[in-house]
Amino acid sequence: MIRLGIIGFGNISTTLLKLLKDVLENPLEHLTIVCRPEYNSQVNQIMREDFNDVALEYCIDSNAETLINNKPNLVVECAGHDAVIEHVAQVLSAGFDTIVVSIGALADAALADSLYDAARKGKARLIIPAGAIGGIDLLASLKKYGKLDVSYRGIKPPAAWSGTLASKLVDLDHLTKETVIFSGSAREAASAYPKNANVAATIALAGAGFDATKTELVADPKATGNIHEYSVDCPLAHYTLRVESQASPGNAKTSMTTAYSIMREITNRIGHIVI
Ligand SMILES: NC(=O)c1ccc[n+]([C@@H]2O[C@H](COP(=O)([O-])OP(=O)(O)OC[C@H]3O[C@@H](n4cnc5c(N)ncnc54)[C@H](O)[C@@H]3O)[C@@H](O)[C@H]2O)c1
Repeated sequence: MIRLGIIGFGNISTTLLKLLKDVLENPLEHLTIVCRPEYNSQVNQIMREDFNDVALEYCIDSNAETLINNKPNLVVECAGHDAVIEHVAQVLSAGFDTIVVSIGALADAALADSLYDAARKGKARLIIPAGAIGGIDLLASLKKYGKLDVSYRGIKPPAAWSGTLASKLVDLDHLTKETVIFSGSAREAASAYPKNANVAATIALAGAGFDATKTELVADPKATGNIHEYSVDCPLAHYTLRVESQASPGNAKTSMTTAYSIMREITNRIGHIVI
């Protein structure tokens, strides 16, 4: 039995709740959802209609104090950079382990430091999930050896770049071939494309760091989903990993694999076997 907190109620959160309904043997003991105040009644309705049985008890609020008062075993932020700033340090410093899904937010060094300090102060854990990518276990292990050379390339269909800086740089509606829309460091990528550079940020945090992780973002009219590929060169090992993921039906920017990765973080806290 687990007491769960979720910050944000969009595509990843609702996909996650659907998965939890399917995989959990028992409902959650308690669920707190933190959403923006203007969505409170809408979230209430969706919870009543679709997720009434996911937890023995649930509550919906717009501030993190309620979440903290409900003493969650684990909190998942799946909302965005603003929500990381608004809520996560508060939750960590109150002593509650938190998974941050909007990993690109940690490219802001001052924000990252404030979260690490809050985690230390609260004796809580800031958990960075693999999210949409794999191989993070190996990369984080090799980091201890050092001498890493890491390059990441994220390829998505043009629609996934709409509403971003890319729409000012290229005509997304009329692209005929694969087009590089960004080339630089993972830190620059996370700041220019906050909703599309979470994988670059994850790889950077696990491996060579934000400034040394070479990043390319690509719009490809032939891509049918979101493709993440990266190569690691290190004296101990060399590997290349490529994930072709379906995009989420609710958000073309988000790979479906992300919600599954968060589900794994939760089920690993419940079962007797962790993998
Ligand atoms: N780590 C990864 O690999 C990875 C992959 C995909 C997406 N993401 C990130 O995960 C986050 C969620 O993605 P999504 O597809 O569910 O997005 P979404 O837009 O579908 O949902 C986000 C929800 O959070 C809510 N929200 C925003 N700010 C809030 C705040 N301050 N307080 C409470 N609620 C707030 C919004 O109202 C919305 O309902 C985004 O930051 C996205 O960039 C990470």
